[in-house]
Amino acid sequence: MHWLSLCLSFLFLCFYTLAESNDRPIIGVLAQDISSPQGNWTSYIAASYVKFLESAGARVVPVMINKTPEEYKTLFNSINGILYPGGSANIFSSGYEKAARIFYELAIEAKKKGDHFPVWGTCLGLEQLMYLTSGKPVLSRTNTSGLALPLNFTNKINDSKLFQNFPPQVLQDLALKPLTENSHKWSVTMATYNEDEKLQKFYKVLSTNMDGTTEFLSTVEAYDYPIYGTQWHPEKNPFEWTRSYYPHSSSAVKMSFYIAQFFVDEARKNFHRFESVDLEQDALIYNYNPVYTGRKNIFEQVYYF
Ligand SMILES: *[C@@H]1O[C@H](CO)[C@@H](O)[C@H](O)[C@H]1NC(C)=O
Ligand SMILES: *[C@@H]1O[C@H](CO)[C@@H](O)[C@H](O)[C@H]1NC(C)=O
Ligand SMILES: *[C@@H]1O[C@H](CO)[C@@H](O)[C@H](O)[C@H]1NC(C)=O
Ligand SMILES: *[C@@H]1O[C@H](CO)[C@@H](O)[C@H](O)[C@H]1NC(C)=O
Repeated sequence: MHWLSLCLSFLFLCFYTLAESNDRPIIGVLAQDISSPQGNWTSYIAASYVKFLESAGARVVPVMINKTPEEYKTLFNSINGILYPGGSANIFSSGYEKAARIFYELAIEAKKKGDHFPVWGTCLGLEQLMYLTSGKPVLSRTNTSGLALPLNFTNKINDSKLFQNFPPQVLQDLALKPLTENSHKWSVTMATYNEDEKLQKFYKVLSTNMDGTTEFLSTVEAYDYPIYGTQWHPEKNPFEWTRSYYPHSSSAVKMSFYIAQFFVDEARKNFHRFESVDLEQDALIYNYNPVYTGRKNIFEQVYYF
């Protein structure tokens, strides 16, 4: 009996690891520090990031701030990718920064051993990635808080991982229509990128944008690692409604879906898993309820921790 169950679990393991695609991907979404803690809450995740990943077939685990490196390592080995959301946490020193740094380093180390662990940074998340790669402050002030723009693609998009399999119509819409929502006061300018050897070696620039005077990076992907960043917000188009400049057209929502699908497909190439179903269930975001904050807050719904 014992022998039989051992055999069966071995077969299951083989089947699981030989499968080409992990069709049960679980992606971490990094929480971030609340600037002025209210009540007992010290960190949050805007629910739109969770819905964005769920829309493409992933389940989400919140990655809490202020955990030990050992706890993050265990979580890294349990999940299939991570998303660093936008917001206003400090990218030089915060719970968000510490966790982001650990997962970034683990993802790079893993890729060198053939373990594909994708990392996505949106807005603040992109700014965090740029700082982690460069090791220097690389942000400049730009006039970009609250506007939707078309992407100014570089000639690198056709051999990019992110865009090469996009439907041509979606790419064309991205280039011609203002579908990408920008809500940031800081950017990495093209001038900074062109002067920073570490950034240039690490990231391929897929698109840029202008704030009227300054050209800044709007979409990047790492050359050798599954690391991606957008200064704009793909998750807002389908899921956030509190600002008039959020694009909600059919092409805007379609674009968001293809971005989500791309990233979740990246996570399907990863085969990390929790040690047990119980541990997996304990970690899932389903254990928490989002709060409706849209009457006062910029986000419709927020998870507080
Ligand atoms: C904070 O936590 C304490 C202990 O769990 C609880 O008694 C209290 O009601 C909480 N306060 C708020 C504002 O949630
Ligand atoms: C910032 O950009 C907006 C248009 O998006 C423009 O109306 C405004 O004058 C700009 N402000 C500055 C200080 O350049
Ligand atoms: C990318 O490929 C498309 C379709 O083959 C082509 O029309 C377009 O000019 C290419 N773009 C660049 C920047 O090479
Ligand atoms: C698009 O990018 C090119 C190349 O970097 C730049 O010269 C041009 O000014 C940009 N155009 C817009 C509208 O952002």
